[in-house]
Amino acid sequence: MDPYDTGGMGGTPVMRNAMPNDKSDRVEYGFTAGKTLWVPGGWNAQKPELSFYEGTIWYRQYFDIEKVQQGKRYFIYVGAANYIATVSCNGKRLGKHEGGFTPFCYEITNCIRDNGNFVIIGVNNSRGADYIPSKVADWFNHGGITREVKVVEVPATFINNYFIALDKATLHDKTKKIDVALEISGAKRPDKARIVIPELKINQEVAVNATGAIKFTVSAKNLQLWSPENPKLYTVTIEAGDDRISDEIGFRTIETKGKQILLNGNPVFLKGICLHDENPLRGDRANSVDDAKLVLGWAKELGCNFIRLAHYPHQENIVRLADKMGILLWEEIPLYWGIQWGNPEVLKKAKAQFSELIYRDYNRASSIIWSIANETAPIPDRNRFLAELADYVRSIDPTRLLSAACKKDQELDGHPDSVYTYNDPIMEKLDIISLNEYLGWYGGLPNECRNKSFKMGLDKPVIVSEFGGGALQGLHGDSLTRWTEEFQDYLYKESIGMFDKIDGLAGMTPWILADFMSPLRQLPGIQDGWNRKGLISEKGFKKKAFYTLQRYYLSK
Ligand code: GCU
Repeated sequence: MDPYDTGGMGGTPVMRNAMPNDKSDRVEYGFTAGKTLWVPGGWNAQKPELSFYEGTIWYRQYFDIEKVQQGKRYFIYVGAANYIATVSCNGKRLGKHEGGFTPFCYEITNCIRDNGNFVIIGVNNSRGADYIPSKVADWFNHGGITREVKVVEVPATFINNYFIALDKATLHDKTKKIDVALEISGAKRPDKARIVIPELKINQEVAVNATGAIKFTVSAKNLQLWSPENPKLYTVTIEAGDDRISDEIGFRTIETKGKQILLNGNPVFLKGICLHDENPLRGDRANSVDDAKLVLGWAKELGCNFIRLAHYPHQENIVRLADKMGILLWEEIPLYWGIQWGNPEVLKKAKAQFSELIYRDYNRASSIIWSIANETAPIPDRNRFLAELADYVRSIDPTRLLSAACKKDQELDGHPDSVYTYNDPIMEKLDIISLNEYLGWYGGLPNECRNKSFKMGLDKPVIVSEFGGGALQGLHGDSLTRWTEEFQDYLYKESIGMFDKIDGLAGMTPWILADFMSPLRQLPGIQDGWNRKGLISEKGFKKKAFYTLQRYYLSK
Protein backbone atom coordinates (compact mmCIF):
# COMPACT_ATOMS: atom_id res chain seq x y z
CA MET A 1 0.00 0.00 0.00
CA ASP A 2 1.27 3.50 -0.90
CA PRO A 3 -1.53 5.86 0.14
CA TYR A 4 0.56 8.99 -0.47
CA ASP A 5 1.68 7.69 -3.87
CA THR A 6 5.38 8.25 -3.16
CA GLY A 7 6.60 5.13 -4.98
CA GLY A 8 9.10 4.64 -2.16
CA MET A 9 11.09 7.25 -0.22
CA GLY A 10 14.71 8.25 0.07
CA GLY A 11 15.81 7.03 -3.31
CA THR A 12 14.67 3.48 -2.83
CA PRO A 13 11.89 3.24 -5.40
CA VAL A 14 9.58 0.30 -5.02
CA MET A 15 10.04 -0.58 -8.67
CA ARG A 16 13.68 -1.56 -7.96
CA ASN A 17 12.37 -4.58 -6.02
CA ALA A 18 15.19 -4.12 -3.46
CA MET A 19 15.90 -6.91 -0.93
CA PRO A 20 17.92 -6.61 2.32
CA ASN A 21 21.47 -7.88 1.76
CA ASP A 22 22.04 -8.56 5.46
CA LYS A 23 20.38 -8.11 8.84
CA SER A 24 21.49 -4.45 9.08
CA ASP A 25 20.33 -3.45 5.62
CA ARG A 26 17.39 -1.00 5.56
CA VAL A 27 14.90 -1.86 2.85
CA GLU A 28 11.75 -0.01 3.86
CA TYR A 29 9.87 -0.12 0.56
CA GLY A 30 9.65 -3.54 -1.04
CA PHE A 31 7.59 -6.70 -1.30
CA THR A 32 9.26 -8.90 1.30
CA ALA A 33 6.30 -8.98 3.68
CA GLY A 34 3.71 -7.85 1.14
CA LYS A 35 0.19 -9.20 0.98
CA THR A 36 -1.14 -11.22 -1.95
CA LEU A 37 -3.84 -9.89 -4.31
CA TRP A 38 -5.59 -11.81 -7.05
CA VAL A 39 -5.12 -10.49 -10.62
CA PRO A 40 -7.48 -9.87 -12.31
CA GLY A 41 -9.58 -8.40 -9.55
CA GLY A 42 -10.32 -5.10 -7.86
CA TRP A 43 -8.55 -4.81 -4.51
CA ASN A 44 -11.57 -3.43 -2.65
CA ALA A 45 -13.41 -6.75 -2.80
CA GLN A 46 -10.38 -8.81 -1.74
CA LYS A 47 -9.46 -7.55 1.73
CA PRO A 48 -11.57 -5.83 4.43
CA GLU A 49 -8.84 -3.23 5.05
CA LEU A 50 -9.00 -2.31 1.36
CA SER A 51 -12.81 -2.13 1.02
CA PHE A 52 -12.82 1.68 0.61
CA TYR A 53 -9.10 2.18 -0.15
CA GLU A 54 -8.35 4.90 -2.70
CA GLY A 55 -4.69 5.49 -3.44
CA THR A 56 -1.77 3.50 -4.86
CA ILE A 57 -0.98 -0.18 -4.46
CA TRP A 58 2.15 -1.75 -5.96
CA TYR A 59 1.95 -5.22 -7.52
CA ARG A 60 4.90 -7.47 -8.30
CA GLN A 61 4.92 -10.73 -10.25
CA TYR A 62 7.88 -12.88 -11.34
CA PHE A 63 7.85 -14.57 -14.71
CA ASP A 64 10.13 -16.77 -16.79
CA ILE A 65 10.49 -16.73 -20.57
CA GLU A 66 12.53 -19.93 -20.46
CA LYS A 67 14.41 -18.99 -23.63
CA VAL A 68 14.34 -15.42 -24.95
CA GLN A 69 14.20 -15.88 -28.74
CA GLN A 70 16.61 -13.73 -30.73
CA GLY A 71 14.64 -11.50 -33.12
CA LYS A 72 11.39 -11.90 -31.22
CA ARG A 73 9.72 -8.96 -29.45
CA TYR A 74 8.07 -9.07 -26.03
CA PHE A 75 5.35 -6.93 -24.45
CA ILE A 76 3.54 -6.68 -21.13
CA TYR A 77 -0.22 -6.43 -21.88
CA VAL A 78 -2.71 -5.17 -19.25
CA GLY A 79 -6.45 -5.63 -19.96
CA ALA A 80 -7.32 -2.72 -17.63
CA ALA A 81 -6.05 -1.08 -14.44
CA ASN A 82 -8.12 1.55 -12.65
CA TYR A 83 -7.16 4.39 -12.82
CA ILE A 84 -3.47 5.27 -13.41
CA ALA A 85 -0.90 2.45 -13.89
CA THR A 86 2.89 2.90 -13.71
CA VAL A 87 4.53 -0.11 -15.34
CA SER A 88 8.11 -1.31 -14.90
CA CYS A 89 10.00 -4.51 -15.72
CA ASN A 90 13.22 -5.69 -14.06
CA GLY A 91 13.52 -2.28 -12.44
CA LYS A 92 13.16 -0.32 -15.71
CA ARG A 93 10.23 2.14 -15.80
CA LEU A 94 8.30 1.56 -19.03
CA GLY A 95 5.53 4.14 -18.83
CA LYS A 96 2.36 5.38 -17.24
CA HIS A 97 -1.18 4.74 -18.53
CA GLU A 98 -4.27 6.77 -17.60
CA GLY A 99 -7.80 5.37 -17.96
CA GLY A 100 -9.44 2.64 -15.93
CA PHE A 101 -11.21 0.52 -18.55
CA THR A 102 -9.11 0.02 -21.70
CA PRO A 103 -6.14 -2.22 -22.54
CA PHE A 104 -2.54 -1.07 -22.97
CA CYS A 105 0.90 -2.60 -23.42
CA TYR A 106 4.59 -1.75 -23.06
CA GLU A 107 7.54 -3.34 -24.86
CA ILE A 108 10.00 -5.25 -22.65
CA THR A 109 12.22 -6.74 -25.39
CA ASN A 110 15.31 -4.88 -24.22
CA CYS A 111 15.01 -5.54 -20.50
CA ILE A 112 14.15 -9.23 -20.11
CA ARG A 113 16.29 -12.30 -19.45
CA ASP A 114 15.43 -16.00 -19.73
CA ASN A 115 14.26 -16.41 -16.12
CA GLY A 116 13.65 -14.51 -12.94
CA ASN A 117 12.08 -11.48 -14.57
CA PHE A 118 9.74 -9.34 -12.48
CA VAL A 119 7.05 -6.86 -13.49
CA ILE A 120 6.05 -4.18 -11.00
CA ILE A 121 2.90 -2.16 -11.61
CA GLY A 122 1.73 0.68 -9.36
CA VAL A 123 -2.00 1.35 -9.64
CA ASN A 124 -3.60 4.52 -8.26
CA ASN A 125 -7.40 4.65 -8.18
CA SER A 126 -7.65 8.14 -6.65
CA ARG A 127 -10.35 10.20 -8.38
CA GLY A 128 -9.41 13.46 -10.07
CA ALA A 129 -11.23 16.58 -11.32
CA ASP A 130 -9.40 16.39 -14.68
CA TYR A 131 -9.88 12.62 -15.05
CA ILE A 132 -12.42 10.67 -17.14
CA PRO A 133 -14.68 10.06 -15.19
CA SER A 134 -14.09 12.98 -12.86
CA LYS A 135 -14.52 12.98 -9.08
CA VAL A 136 -18.18 11.95 -8.71
CA ALA A 137 -19.85 9.02 -10.43
CA ASP A 138 -22.74 6.81 -9.41
CA TRP A 139 -20.71 3.61 -9.29
CA PHE A 140 -18.06 2.04 -7.06
CA ASN A 141 -14.47 3.04 -7.79
CA HIS A 142 -13.01 -0.49 -7.87
CA GLY A 143 -9.22 -0.02 -7.81
CA GLY A 144 -6.49 -2.28 -9.09
CA ILE A 145 -5.53 -4.49 -12.00
CA THR A 146 -9.13 -5.40 -12.78
CA ARG A 147 -8.47 -7.42 -15.95
CA GLU A 148 -5.82 -9.92 -16.98
CA VAL A 149 -2.08 -9.29 -17.49
CA LYS A 150 -0.15 -11.18 -20.21
CA VAL A 151 3.39 -11.43 -21.52
CA VAL A 152 3.09 -11.35 -25.33
CA GLU A 153 5.76 -12.67 -27.71
CA VAL A 154 5.62 -11.67 -31.39
CA PRO A 155 8.00 -12.04 -34.37
CA ALA A 156 10.31 -9.09 -35.13
CA THR A 157 7.79 -8.04 -37.78
CA PHE A 158 4.22 -8.46 -36.60
CA ILE A 159 0.62 -7.53 -37.33
CA ASN A 160 0.00 -4.66 -34.93
CA ASN A 161 -3.63 -3.96 -35.89
CA TYR A 162 -6.25 -5.29 -38.25
CA PHE A 163 -9.65 -3.73 -39.02
CA ILE A 164 -12.10 -5.87 -40.99
CA ALA A 165 -15.66 -4.87 -41.91
CA LEU A 166 -18.30 -5.48 -44.55
CA ASP A 167 -18.53 -2.63 -47.07
CA LYS A 168 -22.12 -1.46 -46.46
CA ALA A 169 -22.41 -0.27 -50.08
CA THR A 170 -22.30 -3.92 -51.21
CA LEU A 171 -24.91 -5.17 -48.71
CA HIS A 172 -27.44 -5.99 -51.45
CA ASP A 173 -24.92 -7.34 -53.94
CA LYS A 174 -24.57 -11.04 -54.61
CA THR A 175 -20.79 -10.63 -54.32
CA LYS A 176 -20.09 -8.50 -51.26
CA LYS A 177 -16.92 -6.60 -50.43
CA ILE A 178 -14.97 -6.84 -47.17
CA ASP A 179 -12.77 -3.86 -46.31
CA VAL A 180 -9.46 -4.78 -44.67
CA ALA A 181 -6.94 -2.43 -43.05
CA LEU A 182 -3.67 -3.79 -41.66
CA GLU A 183 -0.87 -2.13 -39.70
CA ILE A 184 2.34 -4.13 -39.79
CA SER A 185 5.13 -3.13 -37.40
CA GLY A 186 8.79 -4.02 -37.45
CA ALA A 187 12.12 -2.92 -38.89
CA LYS A 188 12.04 -5.31 -41.85
CA ARG A 189 8.61 -5.30 -43.48
CA PRO A 190 7.47 -8.29 -45.50
CA ASP A 191 6.66 -7.44 -49.10
CA LYS A 192 3.30 -9.18 -48.84
CA ALA A 193 0.52 -10.19 -46.45
CA ARG A 194 -2.29 -12.70 -46.80
CA ILE A 195 -5.92 -12.96 -45.60
CA VAL A 196 -7.61 -16.36 -45.46
CA ILE A 197 -11.33 -16.98 -44.80
CA PRO A 198 -11.70 -20.68 -45.65
CA GLU A 199 -15.52 -20.82 -45.42
CA LEU A 200 -15.75 -18.05 -48.02
CA LYS A 201 -13.02 -19.57 -50.19
CA ILE A 202 -10.96 -16.40 -49.69
CA ASN A 203 -7.19 -16.71 -49.80
CA GLN A 204 -5.81 -13.40 -51.01
CA GLU A 205 -2.26 -12.09 -51.02
CA VAL A 206 -1.58 -8.33 -50.97
CA ALA A 207 1.53 -6.22 -51.35
CA VAL A 208 2.78 -4.46 -48.23
CA ASN A 209 4.10 -0.94 -48.77
CA ALA A 210 6.97 0.75 -46.96
CA THR A 211 4.74 2.23 -44.26
CA GLY A 212 3.27 -1.14 -43.29
CA ALA A 213 -0.23 0.39 -43.28
CA ILE A 214 -2.30 -1.14 -46.07
CA LYS A 215 -5.96 -1.07 -47.06
CA PHE A 216 -7.61 -3.39 -49.56
CA THR A 217 -10.88 -5.23 -50.20
CA VAL A 218 -11.68 -8.87 -50.77
CA SER A 219 -14.79 -10.21 -52.55
CA ALA A 220 -17.12 -12.59 -50.75
CA LYS A 221 -19.78 -14.79 -52.36
CA ASN A 222 -22.56 -16.51 -50.33
CA LEU A 223 -21.60 -14.57 -47.21
CA GLN A 224 -23.94 -15.22 -44.25
CA LEU A 225 -24.66 -11.92 -42.50
CA TRP A 226 -24.24 -11.75 -38.72
CA SER A 227 -27.46 -10.96 -36.80
CA PRO A 228 -29.07 -11.68 -33.41
CA GLU A 229 -31.12 -14.39 -35.13
CA ASN A 230 -28.04 -15.87 -36.84
CA PRO A 231 -24.80 -14.74 -35.12
CA LYS A 232 -22.61 -16.23 -37.84
CA LEU A 233 -18.86 -15.89 -37.19
CA TYR A 234 -16.12 -16.69 -39.72
CA THR A 235 -12.58 -17.76 -38.90
CA VAL A 236 -10.35 -15.08 -40.42
CA THR A 237 -6.59 -15.61 -40.55
CA ILE A 238 -4.07 -12.92 -41.41
CA GLU A 239 -0.43 -13.68 -42.19
CA ALA A 240 2.48 -11.28 -42.61
CA GLY A 241 6.14 -12.33 -42.46
CA ASP A 242 6.41 -14.85 -39.59
CA ASP A 243 3.28 -13.52 -37.85
CA ARG A 244 -0.13 -15.18 -38.06
CA ILE A 245 -3.34 -14.12 -36.32
CA SER A 246 -6.74 -15.83 -36.35
CA ASP A 247 -9.99 -14.26 -35.13
CA GLU A 248 -13.72 -15.08 -35.24
CA ILE A 249 -15.45 -12.24 -37.09
CA GLY A 250 -19.10 -11.53 -37.97
CA PHE A 251 -20.09 -9.43 -40.96
CA ARG A 252 -23.06 -7.05 -40.76
CA THR A 253 -24.00 -3.47 -41.56
CA ILE A 254 -25.56 -0.88 -39.24
CA GLU A 255 -27.00 2.42 -40.40
CA THR A 256 -29.95 4.75 -39.91
CA LYS A 257 -32.65 5.83 -42.37
CA GLY A 258 -34.91 8.61 -41.09
CA LYS A 259 -36.21 7.42 -37.76
CA GLN A 260 -35.15 3.79 -38.30
CA ILE A 261 -32.05 1.87 -37.30
CA LEU A 262 -31.22 -0.66 -40.04
CA LEU A 263 -29.28 -3.84 -39.28
CA ASN A 264 -28.29 -5.47 -42.57
CA GLY A 265 -30.77 -3.11 -44.25
CA ASN A 266 -33.72 -4.20 -42.07
CA PRO A 267 -35.36 -2.04 -39.36
CA VAL A 268 -34.50 -3.32 -35.88
CA PHE A 269 -36.08 -2.48 -32.50
CA LEU A 270 -33.41 -2.55 -29.80
CA LYS A 271 -34.91 -4.42 -26.83
CA GLY A 272 -32.22 -3.51 -24.37
CA ILE A 273 -31.10 -3.05 -20.81
CA CYS A 274 -28.29 -1.10 -19.13
CA LEU A 275 -25.47 -2.92 -17.39
CA HIS A 276 -22.48 -2.04 -15.19
CA ASP A 277 -19.29 -4.12 -15.55
CA GLU A 278 -19.71 -5.77 -12.16
CA ASN A 279 -20.56 -9.27 -10.97
CA PRO A 280 -23.02 -8.27 -8.22
CA LEU A 281 -22.80 -11.69 -6.59
CA ARG A 282 -19.08 -11.07 -5.97
CA GLY A 283 -19.27 -7.31 -5.48
CA ASP A 284 -16.33 -6.83 -7.84
CA ARG A 285 -15.61 -5.89 -11.42
CA ALA A 286 -16.59 -8.58 -13.92
CA ASN A 287 -13.41 -10.13 -15.31
CA SER A 288 -14.11 -13.59 -16.71
CA VAL A 289 -16.08 -15.50 -19.32
CA ASP A 290 -18.23 -16.91 -16.48
CA ASP A 291 -19.09 -13.37 -15.35
CA ALA A 292 -20.04 -12.52 -18.94
CA LYS A 293 -22.17 -15.68 -19.21
CA LEU A 294 -24.01 -14.78 -16.00
CA VAL A 295 -25.12 -11.29 -17.06
CA LEU A 296 -25.70 -12.09 -20.75
CA GLY A 297 -27.80 -15.07 -19.62
CA TRP A 298 -29.96 -12.74 -17.53
CA ALA A 299 -30.29 -10.31 -20.47
CA LYS A 300 -31.33 -13.13 -22.82
CA GLU A 301 -33.90 -14.32 -20.28
CA LEU A 302 -35.28 -10.78 -20.15
CA GLY A 303 -35.86 -10.97 -23.92
CA CYS A 304 -33.06 -8.56 -24.90
CA ASN A 305 -31.30 -8.31 -28.25
CA PHE A 306 -29.33 -5.23 -27.06
CA ILE A 307 -27.30 -4.09 -24.04
CA ARG A 308 -25.96 -0.66 -23.10
CA LEU A 309 -22.53 -1.32 -21.56
CA ALA A 310 -22.62 1.65 -19.16
CA HIS A 311 -20.68 3.90 -18.43
CA TYR A 312 -17.20 2.81 -19.54
CA PRO A 313 -15.66 0.03 -21.70
CA HIS A 314 -16.57 -3.36 -20.21
CA GLN A 315 -14.33 -6.44 -20.17
CA GLU A 316 -13.56 -7.84 -23.61
CA ASN A 317 -15.04 -11.25 -22.70
CA ILE A 318 -18.52 -9.75 -22.75
CA VAL A 319 -18.09 -8.25 -26.24
CA ARG A 320 -16.74 -11.52 -27.63
CA LEU A 321 -19.53 -13.51 -25.97
CA ALA A 322 -22.14 -11.06 -27.32
CA ASP A 323 -20.70 -11.78 -30.80
CA LYS A 324 -21.34 -15.48 -30.22
CA MET A 325 -24.81 -15.05 -28.65
CA GLY A 326 -26.08 -12.44 -31.11
CA ILE A 327 -26.58 -9.54 -28.68
CA LEU A 328 -26.08 -5.99 -30.03
CA LEU A 329 -24.06 -3.57 -27.90
CA TRP A 330 -23.79 0.15 -27.09
CA GLU A 331 -20.32 1.05 -25.80
CA GLU A 332 -19.05 4.27 -24.21
CA ILE A 333 -16.20 5.91 -22.36
CA PRO A 334 -17.02 7.61 -19.00
CA LEU A 335 -17.61 11.21 -20.15
CA TYR A 336 -20.13 11.37 -17.37
CA TRP A 337 -21.72 14.35 -15.56
CA GLY A 338 -19.13 17.06 -14.64
CA ILE A 339 -16.06 16.76 -16.91
CA GLN A 340 -13.43 19.52 -17.32
CA TRP A 341 -14.70 20.33 -20.82
CA GLY A 342 -12.48 23.42 -21.19
CA ASN A 343 -9.25 21.53 -20.48
CA PRO A 344 -7.48 20.45 -23.71
CA GLU A 345 -5.62 17.73 -21.77
CA VAL A 346 -8.98 16.13 -20.94
CA LEU A 347 -9.97 16.09 -24.61
CA LYS A 348 -6.68 14.30 -25.36
CA LYS A 349 -7.52 11.75 -22.66
CA ALA A 350 -10.99 11.23 -24.13
CA LYS A 351 -9.49 10.61 -27.58
CA ALA A 352 -6.95 8.18 -26.11
CA GLN A 353 -9.59 6.22 -24.19
CA PHE A 354 -11.88 6.09 -27.21
CA SER A 355 -9.13 4.97 -29.61
CA GLU A 356 -8.08 2.24 -27.17
CA LEU A 357 -11.72 1.06 -27.04
CA ILE A 358 -12.15 1.17 -30.84
CA TYR A 359 -8.83 -0.57 -31.48
CA ARG A 360 -9.96 -3.33 -29.10
CA ASP A 361 -13.51 -3.84 -30.41
CA TYR A 362 -13.43 -2.70 -34.05
CA ASN A 363 -13.82 -6.28 -35.32
CA ARG A 364 -16.74 -7.16 -33.03
CA ALA A 365 -20.03 -7.41 -34.99
CA SER A 366 -22.10 -7.06 -31.79
CA SER A 367 -20.79 -3.54 -31.10
CA ILE A 368 -22.94 -1.12 -33.13
CA ILE A 369 -23.04 2.19 -31.23
CA TRP A 370 -20.33 4.42 -29.75
CA SER A 371 -21.72 6.84 -27.18
CA ILE A 372 -19.75 9.98 -26.45
CA ALA A 373 -21.37 11.28 -23.24
CA ASN A 374 -23.85 10.63 -20.44
CA GLU A 375 -26.01 13.37 -18.91
CA THR A 376 -23.74 16.32 -19.63
CA ALA A 377 -25.05 19.89 -19.46
CA PRO A 378 -25.09 21.57 -22.93
CA ILE A 379 -22.66 24.40 -22.03
CA PRO A 380 -20.45 25.86 -24.81
CA ASP A 381 -17.20 24.13 -23.70
CA ARG A 382 -18.98 20.76 -23.59
CA ASN A 383 -20.58 21.30 -27.00
CA ARG A 384 -17.19 22.11 -28.55
CA PHE A 385 -15.47 19.18 -26.77
CA LEU A 386 -18.08 16.62 -27.83
CA ALA A 387 -18.32 17.93 -31.40
CA GLU A 388 -14.56 17.49 -31.82
CA LEU A 389 -14.68 14.07 -30.14
CA ALA A 390 -17.54 12.98 -32.43
CA ASP A 391 -15.48 13.92 -35.51
CA TYR A 392 -12.47 12.09 -34.08
CA VAL A 393 -14.42 8.90 -33.35
CA ARG A 394 -15.93 8.89 -36.85
CA SER A 395 -12.47 9.44 -38.34
CA ILE A 396 -11.14 6.22 -36.83
CA ASP A 397 -14.35 4.22 -37.18
CA PRO A 398 -16.84 5.37 -39.85
CA THR A 399 -18.69 2.03 -39.70
CA ARG A 400 -20.63 2.45 -36.44
CA LEU A 401 -23.37 4.81 -35.20
CA LEU A 402 -22.81 7.64 -32.75
CA SER A 403 -25.07 8.57 -29.87
CA ALA A 404 -25.02 10.19 -26.41
CA ALA A 405 -27.40 9.93 -23.44
CA CYS A 406 -28.98 13.41 -23.26
CA LYS A 407 -31.57 15.16 -21.10
CA LYS A 408 -34.70 17.06 -22.12
CA ASP A 409 -34.57 20.84 -22.63
CA GLN A 410 -36.70 21.30 -19.48
CA GLU A 411 -34.16 19.41 -17.34
CA LEU A 412 -33.53 22.16 -14.84
CA ASP A 413 -37.13 23.03 -14.06
CA GLY A 414 -38.60 19.63 -13.28
CA HIS A 415 -41.52 18.34 -15.26
CA PRO A 416 -43.88 21.28 -15.88
CA ASP A 417 -44.70 20.74 -19.54
CA SER A 418 -46.80 17.98 -21.03
CA VAL A 419 -44.48 17.99 -24.07
CA TYR A 420 -40.79 17.25 -23.46
CA THR A 421 -38.55 18.76 -26.13
CA TYR A 422 -35.03 17.76 -27.22
CA ASN A 423 -32.81 20.33 -28.90
CA ASP A 424 -29.40 19.55 -27.37
CA PRO A 425 -26.87 21.05 -29.86
CA ILE A 426 -24.73 17.90 -29.78
CA MET A 427 -27.57 15.94 -31.43
CA GLU A 428 -26.52 17.43 -34.79
CA LYS A 429 -23.38 15.28 -34.58
CA LEU A 430 -25.20 12.09 -33.61
CA ASP A 431 -26.88 9.36 -35.65
CA ILE A 432 -29.24 8.44 -32.82
CA ILE A 433 -30.98 10.70 -30.27
CA SER A 434 -30.81 9.02 -26.86
CA LEU A 435 -32.57 10.30 -23.76
CA ASN A 436 -32.46 9.56 -20.04
CA GLU A 437 -35.85 10.28 -18.43
CA TYR A 438 -36.77 9.49 -14.82
CA LEU A 439 -40.23 11.06 -14.49
CA GLY A 440 -41.95 9.17 -11.68
CA TRP A 441 -38.73 8.54 -9.80
CA TYR A 442 -36.73 11.80 -9.80
CA GLY A 443 -39.72 14.15 -9.61
CA GLY A 444 -43.38 13.37 -10.12
CA LEU A 445 -45.07 10.02 -9.65
CA PRO A 446 -45.70 7.23 -12.17
CA ASN A 447 -49.30 8.35 -12.73
CA GLU A 448 -48.01 11.50 -14.48
CA CYS A 449 -46.30 9.51 -17.24
CA ARG A 450 -49.32 8.92 -19.44
CA ASN A 451 -50.02 12.60 -20.10
CA LYS A 452 -46.49 13.35 -21.33
CA SER A 453 -45.36 13.36 -24.95
CA PHE A 454 -42.02 13.95 -26.70
CA LYS A 455 -40.89 16.27 -29.48
CA MET A 456 -37.49 15.71 -31.06
CA GLY A 457 -35.70 18.57 -32.77
CA LEU A 458 -34.29 16.27 -35.47
CA ASP A 459 -35.59 13.48 -37.71
CA LYS A 460 -33.46 10.68 -36.24
CA PRO A 461 -34.08 7.35 -34.46
CA VAL A 462 -34.69 7.62 -30.69
CA ILE A 463 -33.40 5.33 -27.95
CA VAL A 464 -34.55 5.76 -24.36
CA SER A 465 -31.13 5.16 -22.81
CA GLU A 466 -32.30 5.25 -19.19
CA PHE A 467 -35.44 5.15 -17.08
CA GLY A 468 -36.37 3.25 -13.92
CA GLY A 469 -36.49 3.38 -10.15
CA GLY A 470 -35.20 1.67 -7.04
CA ALA A 471 -36.66 -1.30 -5.20
CA LEU A 472 -35.28 -3.47 -2.43
CA GLN A 473 -35.86 -7.03 -3.64
CA GLY A 474 -38.37 -8.73 -1.33
CA LEU A 475 -39.81 -5.47 0.03
CA HIS A 476 -43.52 -5.45 -0.81
CA GLY A 477 -46.36 -2.94 -0.38
CA ASP A 478 -48.82 -0.95 -2.49
CA SER A 479 -47.74 0.63 -5.77
CA LEU A 480 -47.25 4.07 -4.23
CA THR A 481 -44.96 2.91 -1.43
CA ARG A 482 -41.45 3.97 -2.47
CA TRP A 483 -38.71 1.27 -2.54
CA THR A 484 -41.16 -1.63 -2.89
CA GLU A 485 -41.07 -3.98 -5.85
CA GLU A 486 -44.67 -2.87 -6.54
CA PHE A 487 -43.69 0.80 -6.88
CA GLN A 488 -40.83 -0.09 -9.28
CA ASP A 489 -43.19 -2.34 -11.28
CA TYR A 490 -45.86 0.39 -11.49
CA LEU A 491 -43.17 2.86 -12.62
CA TYR A 492 -42.07 0.44 -15.36
CA LYS A 493 -45.64 -0.06 -16.58
CA GLU A 494 -46.32 3.70 -16.75
CA SER A 495 -42.87 4.55 -18.20
CA ILE A 496 -43.18 1.96 -20.97
CA GLY A 497 -46.64 3.35 -21.78
CA MET A 498 -45.13 6.85 -22.01
CA PHE A 499 -42.10 5.95 -24.14
CA ASP A 500 -43.93 3.53 -26.43
CA LYS A 501 -45.73 6.54 -27.95
CA ILE A 502 -42.48 8.27 -29.05
CA ASP A 503 -42.49 8.78 -32.82
CA GLY A 504 -39.30 7.11 -34.00
CA LEU A 505 -38.70 4.99 -30.89
CA ALA A 506 -36.04 2.54 -32.08
CA GLY A 507 -35.13 1.00 -28.76
CA MET A 508 -34.73 1.32 -25.03
CA THR A 509 -32.25 0.35 -22.32
CA PRO A 510 -33.95 0.75 -18.92
CA TRP A 511 -31.71 1.43 -15.93
CA ILE A 512 -30.56 -1.31 -15.00
CA LEU A 513 -30.25 -5.12 -15.19
CA ALA A 514 -28.82 -5.70 -11.69
CA ASP A 515 -28.30 -3.76 -8.45
CA PHE A 516 -24.77 -2.36 -8.39
CA MET A 517 -22.39 -0.90 -5.82
CA SER A 518 -22.33 2.87 -5.41
CA PRO A 519 -21.00 5.06 -2.57
CA LEU A 520 -23.71 7.59 -3.52
CA ARG A 521 -26.44 5.21 -2.32
CA GLN A 522 -26.29 4.96 1.48
CA LEU A 523 -29.95 4.83 2.60
CA PRO A 524 -29.74 2.45 5.60
CA GLY A 525 -31.78 -0.70 5.35
CA ILE A 526 -32.64 -0.04 1.71
CA GLN A 527 -29.47 0.84 -0.24
CA ASP A 528 -26.51 0.28 2.14
CA GLY A 529 -24.02 1.19 -0.60
CA TRP A 530 -26.03 -0.33 -3.48
CA ASN A 531 -27.99 1.40 -6.23
CA ARG A 532 -31.28 -0.54 -6.13
CA LYS A 533 -32.61 0.26 -9.64
CA GLY A 534 -31.72 -3.25 -10.80
CA LEU A 535 -34.39 -5.63 -12.07
CA ILE A 536 -32.33 -8.30 -10.32
CA SER A 537 -30.90 -8.02 -6.79
CA GLU A 538 -27.22 -8.36 -5.96
CA LYS A 539 -28.06 -11.89 -4.81
CA GLY A 540 -29.47 -12.79 -8.21
CA PHE A 541 -33.20 -12.64 -7.31
CA LYS A 542 -35.58 -11.08 -9.88
CA LYS A 543 -37.96 -8.29 -8.93
CA LYS A 544 -41.54 -7.90 -10.26
CA ALA A 545 -40.57 -5.27 -12.85
CA PHE A 546 -38.27 -7.84 -14.54
CA TYR A 547 -41.35 -9.72 -15.74
CA THR A 548 -43.18 -6.55 -16.81
CA LEU A 549 -40.29 -5.58 -19.09
CA GLN A 550 -39.96 -9.20 -20.29
CA ARG A 551 -43.64 -9.22 -21.30
CA TYR A 552 -43.21 -5.92 -23.18
CA TYR A 553 -40.19 -7.25 -25.10
CA LEU A 554 -41.93 -10.51 -25.93
CA SER A 555 -44.80 -8.42 -27.36
CA LYS A 556 -42.49 -6.36 -29.63
C1 GCU B 1 -28.29 8.61 -13.99
C2 GCU B 1 -26.95 8.04 -14.42
C3 GCU B 1 -26.71 6.66 -13.87
C4 GCU B 1 -27.26 6.61 -12.46
C5 GCU B 1 -28.75 6.66 -12.57
C6 GCU B 1 -29.40 6.72 -11.19
O1 GCU B 1 -29.04 8.93 -15.06
O2 GCU B 1 -26.76 8.00 -15.83
O3 GCU B 1 -25.31 6.42 -13.88
O4 GCU B 1 -26.86 5.43 -11.78
O5 GCU B 1 -29.19 7.81 -13.28
O6 GCU B 1 -29.73 7.82 -10.76
O7 GCU B 1 -29.52 5.65 -10.57
